[in-house]
Amino acid sequence: MKYIVEHMEEGFSEWVILEYSQIIRDVGSENLILTSLPKTITEKDIPKQLKDMGLQWTTKEIIDLEFQGAKINREKIALLDPAATVDLIPEDKSTIDYFLLAGVLGEHPRKDRTGILREKYKFQGKRLGNLQMTTDTAIRTAHKIINGTKFEDIQFLDYPEIKYNKYESTEMPFRYIVNDKNEPILPEGMLELIRKDADQSIDDLLIDE
Ligand SMILES: C[S@@+](CC[C@H](N)C(=O)[O-])C[C@H]1O[C@@H](n2cnc3c(N)ncnc32)[C@H](O)[C@@H]1O
Repeated sequence: MKYIVEHMEEGFSEWVILEYSQIIRDVGSENLILTSLPKTITEKDIPKQLKDMGLQWTTKEIIDLEFQGAKINREKIALLDPAATVDLIPEDKSTIDYFLLAGVLGEHPRKDRTGILREKYKFQGKRLGNLQMTTDTAIRTAHKIINGTKFEDIQFLDYPEIKYNKYESTEMPFRYIVNDKNEPILPEGMLELIRKDADQSIDDLLIDE
């Protein structure tokens, strides 16, 4: 199974780098491709951490990708889409070879940027339940389903409170898979980044006063 992420954010934020790095750890660099990067981008614009992990990227669109000398059969592509009417099930493994996702950071309330891909390509859509997940969680979930686990057998935590110091926490407006300690699985380094961002906004507040 190949996961194709149409990168729709401007540049590479720290958050996005952590998410893409985690996807590579989860599914392997050979199974992730970032597409539709700006035409002007060169190797030196790709963050070192991602390059070192073997990130594959291209300025081409998904429909122009070639594998073993042939273009992708569009019937074998599914858009992972929170607004799709059909949920992904393990049996879909026999008909889908590529998942397309929007490489966007989630926002609350949810904007429908996946809709841009829905309109542009008109691929079949598959949903992973009705709540918004981060891109890495969506791939982790699809990967589990395609490897035989039913959606209803995956343990999720919705909108978890992430404690970033003794007194403060922030609610993450996403659904996450949990680990065996019942904690949401976040990309490596994300907790530290959330802490850093929170400290930064507290500093900004203090400076503003
Ligand atoms: C952070 S989400 C983006 C959701 C976003 N607010 C939007 O504009 O559509 C990034 C990607 O993860 C996938 N995704 C997230 N939640 C999903 C769900 N419940 N079902 C299917 N795909 C999902 C989609 O491919 C989506 O484009």
